[in-house]
Parts: sequence; C-alpha cells; structure tokens
Amino acid sequence: MTNLSTPKSFEGLQSDAPIGIFDSGVGGLTVVRRIMERLPNERIVYFGDTARVPYGTKSVPTIRKYAAEDTALLLKESPKVIVAACNTVSALALDIVAQVANGIPTIGVVAAGARLAAERSPRGRIGVIGTEATISSGAYYDAIKHLKPTANVFSKACPLFVPLAEEGLLSHLATRLIAEDYLSELITQEIDTLVLGCTHYPLLRNVIADVVGKSVLIIDSAEAVALEVELLLCAARLLNPNVHHLPSKFIVSDLPTKFNRIAECFLGFLPQHIEVIFPDSH
Ligand code: DGL
Repeated sequence: MTNLSTPKSFEGLQSDAPIGIFDSGVGGLTVVRRIMERLPNERIVYFGDTARVPYGTKSVPTIRKYAAEDTALLLKESPKVIVAACNTVSALALDIVAQVANGIPTIGVVAAGARLAAERSPRGRIGVIGTEATISSGAYYDAIKHLKPTANVFSKACPLFVPLAEEGLLSHLATRLIAEDYLSELITQEIDTLVLGCTHYPLLRNVIADVVGKSVLIIDSAEAVALEVELLLCAARLLNPNVHHLPSKFIVSDLPTKFNRIAECFLGFLPQHIEVIFPDSH
C-alpha cells in the first residue's frame, strides 16, 4: 500500500535529496527507468539486492526481513522519498518499509498499479500477474477491490517470466508458449485490463500484449509508480527544479557476471557509479 505521508513527514526534507529506490535485484531498474524519464532532474540512489534475489519465491518473514534491511541501507543516503520498486515487497512488507523509513515518505508499486487499473479499466474486469508471493498475498486484489468494489479481479502467478526476462528471451517461442499457458485463464475471463505486477514483466510486454489481444489495456506498475512519485513530490514542493549536479548511484549486494548485460536491458543504458554493499542484518 502507498503510504502518502502527512505533510509533517516532509519537514526537513530538501528538494535536492535523492529519490531512494530498492528492489530484490535488477528488476527495479524498470522502475528507475520510468522515474528518470518522468523526472529527469532527480538524482536516484538505487539498491538492488542481487545477492539474495529472487524474493518472489521466499517466505513472508524472509521477505519482510530483507525489506527492512534494504530500507535501512537506503536511509543512509538521506533520500526524500523511498520507493519499493519490488512488487513482492510492496505486497507483503510495505508497512515494515514505512516503519524503518521513520517518517520519510514511502511509496510501493502495488498501490500505484492498482489505482491506475481501477481508474482506467473500461468494464472493471481486471487481470493481475505477478510472482507467487505477490499473487498469494492478495495485495493487488484487495487494493483494486477497495478502490473499485464492483471490479472483478482475476490473478495469476507467472514465475517463469522472471528468468525468461533475465535470460533476454523477450520474443522467443518458449516465452510465447509459456505466456499462452499462463494467460489462458485470464483470457477466458474476458479481462479488459491487465496489470503487470512484477518488475520484470514490462520487458515481456510485447509478447504478453500479443497473447491477451490488442483490446486489453496493459497497466505497467513501473509507469504507475513514477506518476505517483511525481504527484507526491509536487504536492510536497520537493521536485528538484534543476538538473542534479551529482550522478545517480547504483548499489548492489553482489555483482554477478551477467549484471551489465541484464542491467542495460532493464534500464536502457549501462549503469555507471556502481557500488557493492551488503545490507546489515538485524
Ligand atoms: N522484483 C520482484 C517483483 O517485482 C521480481 C523478482 C523477484 O522475485 O525477486 O516482485
């Protein structure tokens, strides 16, 4: 859930402070990409927990522990807002993120994606796809039903989409066949809107859109959260008025051999200023 904090939370925050964004690994770079496109003056500090990815297959206590540690790591960068780019964390641990953030506003992708879907779905027949953990949490279902009680929400976990995106199999026949299998139930339910409820799925957008058909509106939770960050910073008068003099920074907990190739694919360019730091355990 989004924690759009009360104005008191903005006291003492500076417009030139960075936007802190974290994810279980490289997937959250799709969110960084959308935020950079929408807010080009802002400096981003990103943390990707590449040593412990994936989160989507882990137990709830582990996801919550990692989310707390990731937030604590980002807090050291004095951000003006913290974005949980990971759908799994947003679904299961956003309360912990807000608690550790200790007054710094926090935003998660689930509430942002749910809001856009509820607003834009023509007939309220909404499909949601995500990791096992996100879908079994029911977080998207609850958030959409809360905003639009008349909506019919159909959810489907699509775990193989994560490795397929990381392997760069974006238009491979195997991806197409798996997409057809995963999405068949949602097609049968005649959805008019489909929420991409995982950081990796925007990379597979073309094949997913092709399988569900052109009439289905695709909601990218990365785009949705970028819009929400802009609205929040604008309301708090915390948008940076000029291009930031410092470059954005990318922190990871491990630098796997394929990092550069995957990161470039998710971000659209090769990230510079990469630091390797492992979060402190509590
Ligand atoms: N970042 C995760 C999410 O959006 C996907 C990868 C993972 O399972 O950690 O849910």
